[in-house]
Amino acid sequence: MTAVALTGPELLVRGAAQFTADLPLPAGALHGAVAVSPLAHARWSRLECTAAAASRGVLAVLTAADIPGVNQVGDVVADEPLLADREATCVGQPICLVLADAAEAAWRAAQLVGADWVELPAVLDAHEARAAGRLLGPPRTFAAGDVDAAWPRCALVVEGHVELGGQEHAALETHAALAVPRDDGGLLVHAATQSPSAAQRAVAAVTGLPMHLVEVQVTRLGGGFGGKETQATTWACLAALGALHSARAVRVAPDRRDDMRITGKRHPYLGTYRLGLDAEGRFQAYEVTLLQDAGRTTDLSPAVLERSLFHACSAYAIPNVRITVMSCRTNLPSNTAFRGFGAPQAIATIEAGIRTAARAMGVRPTVLQRANLVTEGDVTHYGMRLVDVRARECWDALVARFDPDRLAADAQAWNAQHPLVRRGVDVIPLCFGIAFTAQALNQAEALVHVYVDGTVSVTTGAVDMGQGVGAKLRAAVAHELGAPVELVRVEPTTTSRVANVSPTAASTGADLNGAAATQAARVVRAGLEKVDPGGELAWRQRVALAYEARVGLSALAHYATPGLDFDAGSHRGRPFAYHVYGAAVVTSTVDVLRGTAQVDRVAVVHDIGRSIDRLVDLGQVEGAVVQGVGWLTCEEVRHDGRGRLLTDSLATYKIPDLASAPEVEVVLLEREAPGLLGSKAVGEPPLVYGIGALFAIRDAIRSARPDLPDDVRAPLTPEQVFLALHGPLPAAPDADVPGGGGSGRADG
Ligand code: MTE
Ligand code: HPA
Ligand code: MOS
Repeated sequence: MTAVALTGPELLVRGAAQFTADLPLPAGALHGAVAVSPLAHARWSRLECTAAAASRGVLAVLTAADIPGVNQVGDVVADEPLLADREATCVGQPICLVLADAAEAAWRAAQLVGADWVELPAVLDAHEARAAGRLLGPPRTFAAGDVDAAWPRCALVVEGHVELGGQEHAALETHAALAVPRDDGGLLVHAATQSPSAAQRAVAAVTGLPMHLVEVQVTRLGGGFGGKETQATTWACLAALGALHSARAVRVAPDRRDDMRITGKRHPYLGTYRLGLDAEGRFQAYEVTLLQDAGRTTDLSPAVLERSLFHACSAYAIPNVRITVMSCRTNLPSNTAFRGFGAPQAIATIEAGIRTAARAMGVRPTVLQRANLVTEGDVTHYGMRLVDVRARECWDALVARFDPDRLAADAQAWNAQHPLVRRGVDVIPLCFGIAFTAQALNQAEALVHVYVDGTVSVTTGAVDMGQGVGAKLRAAVAHELGAPVELVRVEPTTTSRVANVSPTAASTGADLNGAAATQAARVVRAGLEKVDPGGELAWRQRVALAYEARVGLSALAHYATPGLDFDAGSHRGRPFAYHVYGAAVVTSTVDVLRGTAQVDRVAVVHDIGRSIDRLVDLGQVEGAVVQGVGWLTCEEVRHDGRGRLLTDSLATYKIPDLASAPEVEVVLLEREAPGLLGSKAVGEPPLVYGIGALFAIRDAIRSARPDLPDDVRAPLTPEQVFLALHGPLPAAPDADVPGGGGSGRADG
């Protein structure tokens, strides 16, 4: 019998997995490099390409004028030219594509492109953009109850500010694409993208080809984290443009520095909140304004903003809320999807408010958190009734297993004895909605072939970026067919076999594509049952018999998530298929003398449904936790005063490493759930636990520096920790609230 295929993880472990930039190049292939704007905002009338064109190895320098179709890659809103045309709106915006016979030659030549630049005023900060009226659209508000009427009834009202930084995706694999011309005038584009169909559509638009002449194939990604949801399209289009122009294969694969400079990041947010509580500590009213730094184009910013609206109350039931969000256009590379997609920023903001309130009341935040967790039958501020709520179950399991109160008491006792080494503790719950908030994207298609030897081929729209969706698809199809799992192979994703695919994003990859694959497998199984109704034959025999009996062994199925119904006008309905719950306790240590902080441990109870693959799921939770910790502690995206990225390498942009990452212990709470094979989506939600790291470090700092302001600024880098411990005293706090800068008791 034939050997079984190596699975994705096996290939990765052996170092045998090929990524897009590893694909062997066809004879005569060219290399593309982009010349980019050196200025944050500039106009020009004439590009200076002669030196680049004359540079050794260069075959062509292509500009906007060389684009045969439309010069546009904007996915949701058409405001993003592929190549800047007489105006650039950020440093790093692609202006020309240089084609050369070697990558180094293309990169070198790209540096030689110039123009008669006229520098224009640039806006580099969201506050300034808002003041200048540079919003991507009108502000959006979700409201429930009546906040204005609620304030006077509150026993305590606290307010404050939260400033959250961006985050570089730092996927191991940088952006890459390889376009290969075909004899019929079409293109095969190997693209490192989470959205093969979006890349296909954009390549068709840019090249002027119909979509059926453009095939986009993705075998795997070395990480996407949202960074390849829309922004991979640019590289696919550049390679396609080069291939069409030169009639040769063209690879475009920026190095790490260009990748970091040119592409967008997680959105920085500025939050201003007001939280009102009754005397028992029940949340009565919450009002928040969130300002998002969108960067220079629309990209996915409105969708990210919308997820912030949905997650503003996190895992808490609050009767009166008003959430207002705004997206500010700045002259920075356009910010984009990043694991959590606007939810983590909204959640960090309310958690800041809860800690401010707890301090004003003289209780641990956990007292307020536990009392206000959502429970069965609660209706969210967007009108969705919550069922099968596991917020308290996860919280109580965390308490039973890890005893955060004891950890807090231990830390306090330790801190009383150790003036120079302080410990902090923080607990954070999770409630995360699963579905694309853009309703149309909640659909998928899958193709299942059973070959006469009993082996199975599955193609879906899912892209495996390390999250293990392939393993889950394999398990689902094997289960549905009753076939041995080793006989099932998950194919590379390609737009010619499965069409109009949604991005692998919003943590829905396994749910959507797994459901479609299950349905396709069910059709094939129904055929097999015709020849073997009692199911007595071995798998291979059934397949052989079915073929002899002229029963079809292939099926294509389509799935659309049922029950979604959201009215954007009234902002009420059921935008999510279900919610994922959980809770985590984070402990930290601060070295007061050195001014350094360490996140020691993150212990998690996570609502996984029925885990399809424990190692995959544990890996997802652990990875998300560390990525969340990184976002709020060591990872700092910094630009200079002219919009140039300073942190443009992994030497200056610090991601967690084995030495600095916390120990992560994960308990999976297993229960039947609505996702694939009774599981729940796991990709993004656990990133939220990382927010506890910010507050655990602040807790430790506060024991040494009780006048630490309640206003929160992240990332809490080593520099910020040092300043919080040893910097100048913050502004004097309000007279009537001990230590509570900006907080006050309401009159009522
Ligand atoms: N895990 C790994 N290893 N690499 C990734 O790029 N992306 C995350 C998450 N986990 C990612 C990951 C993001 S942003 C999403 S939306 C989901 O995986 C997407 O995959 P899924 O829908 O199959 O969970
Ligand atoms: N999450 C991730 N990506 C998306 C979404 C979402 O809700 N909507 C559109 N793209
Ligand atoms: Mo994930 S941010 O939805 O790709």
